[in-house]
Amino acid sequence: MEKFKIEGGRPLAGDITVSGAKNAALPELLCALLTDEELRLSNVPCLRDVKTSLRLLEMMGKRCSFDPERGEVSISGAVTSHVAPYDLVKTMRASILALGPLVSFCGHAEVSLPGGCSIGARPVDLHIRGLQEMGAHIDLDGGYIHAEAVGGRLHGARIVMDKVSVTGTENLMMAACLADGTTVIENAAREPEVVDLADCLRMMGAHIRGDGTATVEVQGVQRLCGGSHRVVADRIETGTYLVAAMATHGVITCHDSCPFALDAVLSKLRSGGAEVTVNGSSITLDMRNREIRPVDITTAPHPGFPTDMQAQFTVLNALACGTGSITETIFENRFMHIPELIRMGARLDIRGNTVICSGPAALKGAQVMATDLRASACLVIAGLAASGTTVVDRIYHMDRGYERIERKIGALGGLIERVGD
Ligand code: UD1
Repeated sequence: MEKFKIEGGRPLAGDITVSGAKNAALPELLCALLTDEELRLSNVPCLRDVKTSLRLLEMMGKRCSFDPERGEVSISGAVTSHVAPYDLVKTMRASILALGPLVSFCGHAEVSLPGGCSIGARPVDLHIRGLQEMGAHIDLDGGYIHAEAVGGRLHGARIVMDKVSVTGTENLMMAACLADGTTVIENAAREPEVVDLADCLRMMGAHIRGDGTATVEVQGVQRLCGGSHRVVADRIETGTYLVAAMATHGVITCHDSCPFALDAVLSKLRSGGAEVTVNGSSITLDMRNREIRPVDITTAPHPGFPTDMQAQFTVLNALACGTGSITETIFENRFMHIPELIRMGARLDIRGNTVICSGPAALKGAQVMATDLRASACLVIAGLAASGTTVVDRIYHMDRGYERIERKIGALGGLIERVGD
């Protein structure tokens, strides 16, 4: 199994170009299931989850081409199978995003239930309930969701989501595009990736209003067409590099980013002692000759502090002078990086859904194990900030969400190397 070997203690300095957002690219790739015409996406990151989505689309009969250097994807052809099999879904939970488009376009779908994952149970009941309200008949059998649009077509409905769910909102928004009548999704997710998906669907001819607010309205149309769309910048990748520069007392500029989507994160970086400046789509963080201050963070749906950034901030709090806290409110099991950070010398104490961080700790390199995508990012940052050598195992998690990580960190002067067993 591949690992990262990191020689820590060097400040990251320089410029990087932010990649397209994984969490926008995945639903947008599956938009291809809503039309037989060609869908072209640009700024698509070269990630394992993107390749998995393309494999899924090919299994469903689509012709896909991907130029990873240029970040361009083209998807065309008719849907010939409406099954998302367990073997693929188990490697990528976001495969559930095939359910809404398939049942809306084909009238039926069979999508494997994703099951639990390392950060918690992560049910899909909200996706299922929403589709039922739009007239889908749903059976759970043999580990699969069997969905059938009664009469061959979904109908509009007013859906009140019990909880804010990002992929739940996206699935229902995609399904509603080809439904009869108007669908209103209340308590919708407001994440920038939902807005980018709505932009992609509008480009295809969908009638959507209210995306980016808690009430999304979709007026169904008879058909959607193909076209081109550019994937929005990855705010979590941006935030991760900013934290890495801060933890190593460096100075970094992230180009082609989306500062408007990062308010909560930039505000905490400033409270933590960094000088952060925004110039158009570029964000510069300067932490040279500055002391890291502890921050208190509580995760929340957008525009609150993103759960996908809390693990990275734990490293900052471990290095900071004083006591800070991280409270996780979205997922129930998202502290698996904590024991690994403790092995590197961090002083962290888990109390329920809060981690109390007492700093400053002088982190020391160690052998650590990544357990999920953002936990891996946190361990890489800890390795860059620590003295000595850190080996991060199970980096396949990281390859799901961070494009060309060694190249980007290397360009900033960090010493990171991918090694085999
Ligand atoms: C998406 C992101 C993920 C991010 C998360 C929260 C993608 C591909 N992934 O995941 O990176 O960490 O949003 O910002 O975009 N829930 C239910 N029932 C459901 C659906 C969700 O109870 O049917 C619960 C979840 O268990 C969780 C909460 O709702 O506690 C939010 O989850 P959700 O927003 O759905 O996360 P994902 O869309 O899976």
